[in-house]
Amino acid sequence: MFQPCSGFGVKMKEGIKIDWLTALSKRKSSLVQFSDCTRNRRVSTLGTNAGATPLPFQNWHRFKEAYTPELIGRAVQESTIPVRHLVDAFGGSGTSALSAQFLGIASTSIEVNPFLADVIRAKITYYESDALIHDLGKVVRHVKRTSASVRRFSACPATFIEPGINGRYLFHAAIAECLASIQTAIETLKVEAHRRFFRVLLGGILVAVSNVRISGKGRRYRQGWQNRKIDPVEVLDLFVQSALQAIVEVHAHMNRPRTEATVLTSDARIAINEVEPADLIVFSPPYPNSFDYTDVYNLELWMLGYLGSPQNNHALRFSTLSSHVQIKRNFAPMPDGSKSLSQSVKRLHERRDALWSPWIPEMIGGYFADMSRVLTGCAHRLNDGGQIWMVVGNSQYAGVVVAVDQILIELAPRWNLRFIVKKPFRSMRVSAQQGGKEQLAETLVILAKD
Ligand SMILES: C[S@@+](CC[C@H](N)C(=O)[O-])C[C@H]1O[C@@H](n2cnc3c(N)ncnc32)[C@H](O)[C@@H]1O
Repeated sequence: MFQPCSGFGVKMKEGIKIDWLTALSKRKSSLVQFSDCTRNRRVSTLGTNAGATPLPFQNWHRFKEAYTPELIGRAVQESTIPVRHLVDAFGGSGTSALSAQFLGIASTSIEVNPFLADVIRAKITYYESDALIHDLGKVVRHVKRTSASVRRFSACPATFIEPGINGRYLFHAAIAECLASIQTAIETLKVEAHRRFFRVLLGGILVAVSNVRISGKGRRYRQGWQNRKIDPVEVLDLFVQSALQAIVEVHAHMNRPRTEATVLTSDARIAINEVEPADLIVFSPPYPNSFDYTDVYNLELWMLGYLGSPQNNHALRFSTLSSHVQIKRNFAPMPDGSKSLSQSVKRLHERRDALWSPWIPEMIGGYFADMSRVLTGCAHRLNDGGQIWMVVGNSQYAGVVVAVDQILIELAPRWNLRFIVKKPFRSMRVSAQQGGKEQLAETLVILAKD
């Protein structure tokens, strides 16, 4: 049997003491404002590089590609029509949905990754904090009383659990056993929203207790991971700390406006056509930089049971935007109407031998074909006078720049959308994989439907 901490006498790590009792006893009566969600901070950019200032709900799961809530505040403020319904076609960590909620606006988010879709749902759900505390106690007691087997993870790829393959694995067996215990305990809870809340928070600690770290380049083994000893007790402590912190945040913001928020676990290329008419659409799609989000969230997807077979994994990857070449797929042909796109694809074909994957020209064509499907749907579902705010990033392969911002602007008339403005946010370093040090732009592009 697993022997962790006793009840709530959880041994907190130095410096991470959570005064949850005091926090819970201070019920706020006033309505929570949007500024409570941004903590009235000053940000140097509205893009994805605003720094790591921890905002409420945002650190439930580390998601470094998130843009700032302030971007949503600005888009709503500058809209030329009243915003009652906001749509985000690429929900990610839920910045749009959460910000809309704080602003008292109904929202719909589309997110293809089922774990991330649950992260969004977990954040926008209204909970009773006392009931969450009660259920956290139940989880801890269940973990103390019962043991669970790592067989729970038998569907995961063989590299996941010790002994792994060729002596390499992502989780030590003792850690995996503890994770299995926590999950089994979570599953005993009666309220589905609570099960999701705790599952998402467990997802938030998986990388920390694994033998790998995640960076812009994907998943890498930690240095000296074989000798890195994590006591299984620490896994439960970490989970409890993170759950308590989240409950404190839930409690502090429980009086935020009550709005309708819909999350669709779907492919935006299809689902965008099914959303209710929108007054404002804000999103940041995956950038065509070969970064596969399915890969990056592999740990959470498999360990938490969102994926149960290689076929599931394959299907999920096929549903993602054509922004990577990790799977062999028939990329849709590039749309007509952009000189910059035709030139970039032509130059990529010419430089095919210098590319690290010969499929990059087709991927770029397919990326804009996919974006075209999404934007056709957006234009169809957007109310007259509404705007689309997109945070996009340019890419570069073998010295050929793919100016995503410019290409989308050139394609806008094809979707009967009018270009309003383009504002650069920051520069991104070209990844080593893309072979250079030149800076690439991240840009806000605003289009409107007349
Ligand atoms: C740049 S992130 C969005 C970040 C988000 N703006 C935030 O603040 O958290 C892009 C998201 O698009 C999702 N995605 C990729 N392909 C998709 C598709 N076909 N349909 C819907 N979502 C997709 C990815 O899983 C990823 O979460």
